[in-house]
Parts: sequence; C-alpha cells; structure tokens
Amino acid sequence: MDKYIINGGNKLYGGVKIQTAKNSVLPILAAAVLAGDKVRILNAPHITDVANMVRILGCLGCRSVYEGEDIIIDSTCADCFEIPRELAHELRSSVFLLGPLIARFKRARIAYPGGCDIGLRPVDLHLSGLKRLGVSIRESNGYIYCECEKLCGNEIMLDCPSVGATENIMLAAVLAEGDTVIKNAAREPEIEDLQKFLNSIGAKVRGAGSGTIAVSGVKKLGGGEFQPMADRIEAGTFLIAAAMCGGEIEAQGISSEFISSLLHKLRENGCKIYSKNDKIILKRLGGLVSVKSIETQPYPGFPTDLQAQMTALCCICRGQSIITENLFETRFKYVPELRKMGADITVAGRNAFVRGTEKFNGATVVACDLRGGAALVLAALAAEGRSEVFDISHTDRGYGMFEYKLRSLGADIVRAAV
Ligand code: EPZ
Repeated sequence: MDKYIINGGNKLYGGVKIQTAKNSVLPILAAAVLAGDKVRILNAPHITDVANMVRILGCLGCRSVYEGEDIIIDSTCADCFEIPRELAHELRSSVFLLGPLIARFKRARIAYPGGCDIGLRPVDLHLSGLKRLGVSIRESNGYIYCECEKLCGNEIMLDCPSVGATENIMLAAVLAEGDTVIKNAAREPEIEDLQKFLNSIGAKVRGAGSGTIAVSGVKKLGGGEFQPMADRIEAGTFLIAAAMCGGEIEAQGISSEFISSLLHKLRENGCKIYSKNDKIILKRLGGLVSVKSIETQPYPGFPTDLQAQMTALCCICRGQSIITENLFETRFKYVPELRKMGADITVAGRNAFVRGTEKFNGATVVACDLRGGAALVLAALAAEGRSEVFDISHTDRGYGMFEYKLRSLGADIVRAAV
C-alpha cells in the first residue's frame, strides 16, 4: 500500500486533461464480451478498476492487449461463464458481466461483487430485471447462479433508478428475442455512452438519458472501436481542489452540462466559472462562502460521487452546511479522518452537519474508499503544513496519474511506498 506525502497551501494553476470516464469504460468492457470479436476502447484511463476488469475478461477467455493508450479486447474465444470470488470481489463492476455472460452463454456463475464499502449495495434490481427476461437465478455460498433457455424481451420497471441494474439489463436485452422496455431507468450520461457503444457494434437501443430505455433484440453483434466520454467525477474533483486551494485551473475535454449541479454549488461558494466547448475554467481568488445544503440525488441531481469532496470544501467555508447522502447508507466513513485535520463535522444518519473553520491542519490520515480518499487528498492540499494519506490504493482505483496531474497544477505531492 502506498501513501501520499503532501505539503499543503499551494494555489493551483494551469490546465488538466480529464481522463476517459471510469464509470463508462467499465460497463463497456463488460459489453465487449457480447461482441464475439475485437473491440478497441480508445484512451482508456490508467486506473486499477480497469486493470482488474481486464483481468476478469481474461479469466473468461477474452484476449486483451494494450496499444498505446488504447485497450483491445478480443472476445472471439471467450469460453468461460464463471467469475471466482477473488476476482469478483475486486470491484462492483464484476456484476455487470451477468447480462453479457447470460446473453452469450445462456448461463453465468459470479461471486457477489466488491467495490467501495459505502453501503449495502444489493443486487436485487439486477436479478429481478434478469428474471423478467427469462433467467432463472439461484444464490448460494456467496455466488449467483444464472441460466436460461432463451432470453425473451419484456417490460421492466425498476424500483429505483439504479445505474448498474439499468446497464446490466441493457446488456442482457440486446441479444434477447423481442423488445425490452426499461422504465424508471437511471439517466446518468454514462448510460447514454453505453447505448452509443452498443449501437456502434450493431445493437438497437434508444432512450438512454430519459427514464425509459427501449431495446430491440438482435441476433448478433460485432467488433468496433469507441471513445468513451470524459470522466465528469474526475473533472469535478479537480475543480473542487482548485476551489479549496485557490488559484485558477482549466479542466480540458469535459462538457459542463454533465456537472452543472456541481458548478451551480461552486458558484454559490464564490468561485468564478466559465465554460467554452469542452473546457471548464474555475477561478477562486477571494474567500469561500458556505452553501446551505447539498443533497445527493440520481442524475441530473448532485452526484453522490462528489459528496465527499464537496464536504471537504464545506469544512473551510465561512458558515454552516448540511450534506445529505440519499443514495448510499454509509458514505461518510471519511469524516473521522477529516476531523483529524481540524474539520468540525457531526454525522447523524444520512446527514453531515458542517461548521466551517478557517483552515485544515496537516495530519496523518487513512483513505477508506475511492471518493473519501480523494476528499482527504484535497483537504491535505488545502491544509496548512504536512500531511500523509495512507491506503491510496483506494484512489488508484479511479484516478489515473493523480499525483502527476496535481503536481502539474502546482501541488506539492509525492507518492511513497509504505
Ligand atoms: C454506480 O454504482 C457507480 N459505479 C457508482 O460510482 C455511483 O456512485 C452509483 O452508480 C450511483 O451513481 C459504477 O458505475 C461502476 P446504483 P452502482 O445501482 O451501479 C440501490 C464511484 O465512486 N440499489 O445506482 O452500484 C443502491 O443500494 C462509484 O465511481 C438497490 O437497492 O449504483 C443505492 O442505494 C461508487 N438494488 C442506489 O440503488 C440494486 O440492485 C444506487 O445504486 C442496485 C442498487
């Protein structure tokens, strides 16, 4: 496990190229199993979740090769429908393979997925959706066993707009017989990206981004190449970093429409924000003003994946804020670590009550999940004095070249082996 050593207090200046989106690449990697041919994913991010997903595809019999920044997945010879515990447990996205494996092999055996420890993270909506397509499912000893004679299109109503369940059902429905309609589907931009990818390899999907997605099953899909969208959460993380440290940065290759809920809050905090084509410029020269409340919601509401980073920002604003986490039951695990840096936060159930203080003080802290770890890094960058952030394997899961990008903006951060 590595750590970051950070000397806080530097303002951030300059441009940062935003990586390809983790939460778009991961379901697209799962979808590559459906192609039965070569799929090239352009400019894949250098993050461990992608590396682990490629390892899982390898265990299914797919051949993968990195060519420069691209990943080429050849699923022609895929011949296995089982994912063992030690691999499935590495990340949440292993569950996205249920749909493609059933569509390809008419069966699947996957251990329960892993991922950030931010809540119960059930998969009941994934499984109930697959059952509606004719899949019989048995769960025992931590494994999910699926099989079906034939996938048949159907109408599916999701109890909540689950991103993963929406994607899993899309991935099963594209090769089903007949039409499928997914109602109360998640609207995240990454789902529109998955629709674009699937249609580029011969599927017939429409409606992603609205609450209703329609899939007309086809007989076969093929290979192709695809540039997934930019990572709106990485972009938001860098913009919040600049808001906390002060200075002026330009996030490059990202559309402001995908994080408009964040930009609205950062303007309330006193930041000046301009966006043009695929660039977002944030300038913070004066003091930070607190926002009264932040409530995480499914897209297009405030993203839960920026909740921790925004809470860290609220800690050094003048005034008080209430942060409400509506999607995950235990997504405030980073708060005790922020308190070590001087934060004044009280957590009660789904709410965090923040009283702004002048500044963070450097401290030794431990990351406990991907976005909570990012929040600790941002707090250390804005803190007075030296900090060490341990267990940064969590941030490595979703932020490629994190310390290099931050250093290029003027941050004093180095990685060290522990
Ligand atoms: C995806 O997770 C993202 N991960 C998460 O990003 C993100 O926080 C989340 O969507 C919400 O936007 C990837 O795309 C790889 P959900 P997912 O199913 O699909 C409940 C990050 O930091 N639910 O939309 O697991 C669930 O408990 C990660 O990049 C059920 O009840 O999220 C939660 O309360 C963290 N039953 C809510 O839905 C189910 O079967 C939202 O979960 C599935 C979900």
